[in-house]
Amino acid sequence: MRPRAPLAPLDAAADVLSALSPDRGELFELRVARWWPDLRAGLAAVYPAADVAPLERRLLRLAAIAYSERDPELSRLDQERSLEPDWFQRPGMLGYAAYADRFAGDLAGVRAKIPYLLELGVTYLHLMPLLRPREGDNDGGYAVADYREVRPDLGTMQDLRDLAAALRHDGISLVLDLVLNHVAREHAWARAARAGDQTYRDYFYVFDDRVLPDAYEQTLPEVFPDFAPGSFTWDDDLHGWVWTTFNSWQWDVRWDNPAVFVEYADLVLMLANAGVEVLRLDAIAFLFKRLGTSSQNQPEVHALTQALRAVVRIACPAMIFKAEAIVAPSDLVAYLGRGEHYGKVSDLAYHNSLMVLIWSMLAEGDVHLAAAALRRFPAAPPTTAWITYVRCHDDIGWAIDDDDAAAVGRSGYAHRSFLSDYYTGLFPGSTARGLVFQYNPATGDRRVSGTAAALAGLDAAVDRAGVDRAGVDGAAVDDAVGRLLLAHAIVLGWGGIPVLWMGDELGLPNDDAWADEPGHAGDNRWAHRPRMPWEGAAAQRHDAASVPGRMFHGLRHLVRARAGRPELDASVAAQVLEPSDPGVLPVLRQHPRGPLLGLYNVTGTWRPWPAYRLDGLGLAVCVDALTDEPVTAAGDGMIWLAPYAARWLVAAR
Ligand code: GLC
Repeated sequence: MRPRAPLAPLDAAADVLSALSPDRGELFELRVARWWPDLRAGLAAVYPAADVAPLERRLLRLAAIAYSERDPELSRLDQERSLEPDWFQRPGMLGYAAYADRFAGDLAGVRAKIPYLLELGVTYLHLMPLLRPREGDNDGGYAVADYREVRPDLGTMQDLRDLAAALRHDGISLVLDLVLNHVAREHAWARAARAGDQTYRDYFYVFDDRVLPDAYEQTLPEVFPDFAPGSFTWDDDLHGWVWTTFNSWQWDVRWDNPAVFVEYADLVLMLANAGVEVLRLDAIAFLFKRLGTSSQNQPEVHALTQALRAVVRIACPAMIFKAEAIVAPSDLVAYLGRGEHYGKVSDLAYHNSLMVLIWSMLAEGDVHLAAAALRRFPAAPPTTAWITYVRCHDDIGWAIDDDDAAAVGRSGYAHRSFLSDYYTGLFPGSTARGLVFQYNPATGDRRVSGTAAALAGLDAAVDRAGVDRAGVDGAAVDDAVGRLLLAHAIVLGWGGIPVLWMGDELGLPNDDAWADEPGHAGDNRWAHRPRMPWEGAAAQRHDAASVPGRMFHGLRHLVRARAGRPELDASVAAQVLEPSDPGVLPVLRQHPRGPLLGLYNVTGTWRPWPAYRLDGLGLAVCVDALTDEPVTAAGDGMIWLAPYAARWLVAAR
């Protein structure tokens, strides 16, 4: 027998553990032994030594209680996933993200739409924030007033548990946000603080005067410069300035207070036991503040994640974490584990750079900048996976790194301006219909809102064709559909979990009436969060001649082809090769089972790929996994790619 857990205070949960069967008790002890060092190191990196021991005892007890209350089906899932820790890296994974109400009315409605998700091949459903938010404007649910209740118009906690179980039975993992950087001003903690309770005042960063806020502001970037300038808000009830990174009614919580850690650990366990399988750690980069810095990406963020994850691994290891860190490439990889936190933090993170670079390539019809940036991109640990996506519910910030641009002799600033111009239709020849979101005159940043179809020029092409979206086949429409399917082919061919944003599978346009809903007028991100037109575009999805039908079938084809390709397992990194043609992005995946070379033509013209380059890659005789056709060179020694074509070359068997 190996020695037991080092110094884990199991006695803190003795009464809970003694009520378990010997087998269950032993399994818990084994997990504690496995994860205790991670928990301890994570906590010790953030909290004073005197706080760590009592904190450990409380956490161990919470974990034991959650473990003892875990539904038998979820316990079984814990076991399955312990035997298959790479479950989320498989090429059969496909994500879908939606607001429950905009997708299907409420939680029961979502349940009724599971067949639609299965038709598409979805295995992971991210429902946007649905825990009870504050009344009125609530940042799309990201201002939570009560984590323990579901938004009343969507259903109850029981409905959430039922939905999670129904999804699980159909092989779909439920993904929810954990908004952990801030709570609504109306949350019970904030209300207690406002009522003068010091315990809860200590949950927030409150300053009596402007001295410290002014000092912090020197180095803090602004997230919402238009509607929420600055990062501090005066509150009459508190009689102080409270830290509000986002909106004035989203109060940042103090993770340097151990009591806050306990609160969130408890919430995480509650959500896990409700059946949530993936937690999206919202705005995680902002969790720890430090004077003189941007107060993003602080080392403590990773220590805290490590500790929180250890709690989860002990009580409910079926759950994994996804970091929502929209940060520079050099900072991003730390969220998947680097250095001492390697293999110990989030399992998933958004590949924001890939998303931005896809739009950049499509705007320019040129891959050089993207190839250079992606070739310089730090590798992720092989036990993790990227979330790849064409767009999400948020705006697109043109995260072109200055050094990446300089590496190909370009100006980052100029290219970012070009992308804003291009995607808002200002650039000559552009038919994109994005909207400027949060212009920041200080930095020149102009982020952009819009559905994928609006950005790719599909809306404009369909309007120009002057007919209903069904049945049009003008060249401009063909090109726009081609661009959209190509963008998705890159995302699906990367490896990781591709996540489709609701409506993009049908090529939905911007919602022209976005500003009409109460609380939405000031936030044009609602333009790209339409409601699902079940009677309209969705009903046309099997009509191969219609735009929705072309998108839906095109995507489904990609999804199916992907599911059968072991080379696309996320454990293997995507490697961008040196381009041969300015219009073709080559992405190699060197899986031990064999290579897969993705070739993506980002232009509206035929482009060549030199066949001789296949020899050295083990692809001298190959087929295209997207068509199952053999790939042959033309008389000029070139493999020719049609406009906006994607090809996945694999060795012929
Ligand atoms: C994340 C969300 C965004 C929200 C912010 C604050 O970035 O994606 O929609 O505004 O966090 O919670």
